[in-house]
Amino acid sequence: MRSNLIQEASDDQKTLPAHVAIIMDGNGRWAKKKLMNRVRGHEQGSETVRAIVTASREIGIKILTLYAFSTENWARPESEVKALMALLKKFIVAERDDLQKNKIRLNMIGQRDKLPPDVRQELDKTLELTGGNEEMILNLALSYGSREELTRAVRKIAAKLASKQLSPGEITEDLISAHLYTSGMPDPDLIIRTSGEYRLSNFLLWQAAYSELYITDTLWPDFTKEEFVEILKNYQTRDRRFGKVSCSTSNGG
Ligand code: IPE
Ligand code: IPE
Ligand code: MG
Repeated sequence: MRSNLIQEASDDQKTLPAHVAIIMDGNGRWAKKKLMNRVRGHEQGSETVRAIVTASREIGIKILTLYAFSTENWARPESEVKALMALLKKFIVAERDDLQKNKIRLNMIGQRDKLPPDVRQELDKTLELTGGNEEMILNLALSYGSREELTRAVRKIAAKLASKQLSPGEITEDLISAHLYTSGMPDPDLIIRTSGEYRLSNFLLWQAAYSELYITDTLWPDFTKEEFVEILKNYQTRDRRFGKVSCSTSNGG
């Protein structure tokens, strides 16, 4: 059964964001407040992931991108990195059947080869199993960093120039987009960050050119589907001008 809140947000499909991206931040602070180990915060955070994936599917969001692990996060203490990788693997295995049942396709953006072999193996299984699903894409950013993504794209384009597959005049914005991990996906309409930090932390720098931003103080483990729906409703009231004149003011001629 859909809750009223979810019904409200999805009623107006026209202004529902097609692509929502979330910087899931604040797990460590959540645990610290409760005098617990940071890893407990990550465990609780993975429960929030479950809830928000389910809510997104119910509401009718087409693409949900979740920043789960950044290229910079490798510099955390080894024990925390290990725990995060173990949790990631657990999530990918535990959610496999539900993703399939709900016709959600798993996708990843980021440095696949940097992930531990056992995580890669389970990831590949879920990617393959869910590859044909079309109701929603769950896009996990794993060992993802925008600068790495852009560097990799430049390298690929440069190789094509060197082999004369491409000429400089053929380098367009669309061509650059096509060489990013997010190739083929629309840019995020809305980027949400939890835990009150006003920064992008190397997330989707190119793709965020015209994304609407929403920052909430709520720590990720405390984030609920009710707050998610409130944010979507807030998004629905925004005037996305893309540098032009607002529709409401230009109507007069
Ligand atoms: C987000 O929570 C999870 C990851 C970055 C992997 P943090 O672990 O960054 O939590 P805080 O920011 O220290 O509270
Ligand atoms: C951003 O959070 C990365 C993820 C949510 C995976 P961080 O906690 O790593 O970002 P900073 O260090 O506060 O910028
Ligand atoms: Mg953080």
